[in-house]
Amino acid sequence: MHNTISEITNIRERIVGIGQQVPLLDGRQRTYINLDNAASTPALRDVLDTVNSFMDWYSSVHRGTGFKSRVATQAYDDARRIVGDFVGADPQTHVVIFGKNTSEAINKLAYRFPLTQDDVVLVSLLEHHSNDLPWRGRARVEHIAADELGRLDEDDFDRRLAQHKGRVKLVAVTGASNVTGHLPDIHQLARKAHAAGAQILIDCAQLAPHRAINIGPLDDPAHLDYVALSAHKMYAPFGTGALIGRRDTFEHGEPEYRGGGTIEFVTQETVEWAEPPDREEAGSPNVVGAVALAAAIKALRTIGMEAIARHEADLTAYALERLLNVEGLEIYGDPDPRRAASRLGVIPFNVGDLSHFLVAAILGTEWGIGVRHGCFCAHPYLIHLMGVSAADAMQVRADILAHNRRHMPGLVRISFGMYNTTDEVEALVQALTAIAQGKIAGRYEQDTRSGEYNAAGWSPDLSQYFRL
Ligand code: ALA
Repeated sequence: MHNTISEITNIRERIVGIGQQVPLLDGRQRTYINLDNAASTPALRDVLDTVNSFMDWYSSVHRGTGFKSRVATQAYDDARRIVGDFVGADPQTHVVIFGKNTSEAINKLAYRFPLTQDDVVLVSLLEHHSNDLPWRGRARVEHIAADELGRLDEDDFDRRLAQHKGRVKLVAVTGASNVTGHLPDIHQLARKAHAAGAQILIDCAQLAPHRAINIGPLDDPAHLDYVALSAHKMYAPFGTGALIGRRDTFEHGEPEYRGGGTIEFVTQETVEWAEPPDREEAGSPNVVGAVALAAAIKALRTIGMEAIARHEADLTAYALERLLNVEGLEIYGDPDPRRAASRLGVIPFNVGDLSHFLVAAILGTEWGIGVRHGCFCAHPYLIHLMGVSAADAMQVRADILAHNRRHMPGLVRISFGMYNTTDEVEALVQALTAIAQGKIAGRYEQDTRSGEYNAAGWSPDLSQYFRL
């Protein structure tokens, strides 16, 4: 029986693979503890069941006339409506475009959003690379600063909006940091962006599984113009994501991917593009992924986004309190348990002088605990949080280019889903306390190229666990 501290008590039964046993270095088996939900969540049973029953009806969508095609087309169209409803989109003014994931969604917008090299796009220092790199090269990109706890610096945002008055065309900011769990005040940023004549994109990859999102009507000054999300972070790992945003942006211009499904009519010389969303979805779509995402959204809404937020806030407060007592453990971002309700349950830390590569390896190898470590695809933010000097960053860059990641700076990150428990936090604290005290059973060797550590002599046969 797992201790929980909120009302979501039966949720673990609905998580696929929750009781999975994994091998440990000492030969024992242990139920896996997944504290890496910010990377990908496990699947919800509701999603898997829906996908399985849909497979009997799976067929081509939009182009087929058979009965199965009609059922599958209806499912795909319903999925689009359910995703739009989830963020409060209005089909008259918004469009839901399916794609692979948030990264693809943002790249699509970067291609389609009208920008020149003189325009300014304000991103923040908190961004995952997927909401930074797509904008570079398309316009002048500036990073809104972060404070020492990794929180978006709104004064710096105001300064940059004023400094580039009339030239800021887009503000592209995360809804929740994948590193520190910080939640920028997105509607406040939206209000300011709109007052300055800009539009705003919120990268909701991290936010969507944890909080309700309200895109808002276009005439509300605090509305969001675009949001992007990924199903694999929402308990529906079937390869889908979505860009939801202003329909007018996609009503004109040409899509970056062209092909079947994107057109009304083609001659040897002419192309008439289809209305959005079809214009933006070249080729046969991932219908199964869309159905899975819709099933996840229905389940999340039934569980209740507020109940999820409450449970995760309680768990985060509990974890911060417990981790603050581990000798030598340093938490990055905001360590204050009293503010747990105003951030996500994403907690990065280091243990004494130990390499993040090593701590993560020991957690996996000796304790059966899955975490992520490193820079979390957010190098500029990590450099800021860890206070890496410009000279040291250049040295790291040189080392990496020389295929040596041994001294790559980074952190260990735990990230909660709605099903994690205080018992799991206790197991983590026990493991980290032992590691901090030097109670490490294995002898670990570091691979220079990847930086990863492996316990000498331990190479479990993975094909015993799953093979194709
Ligand atoms: N997948 C990225 C992470 O793990 C976003 O943080």
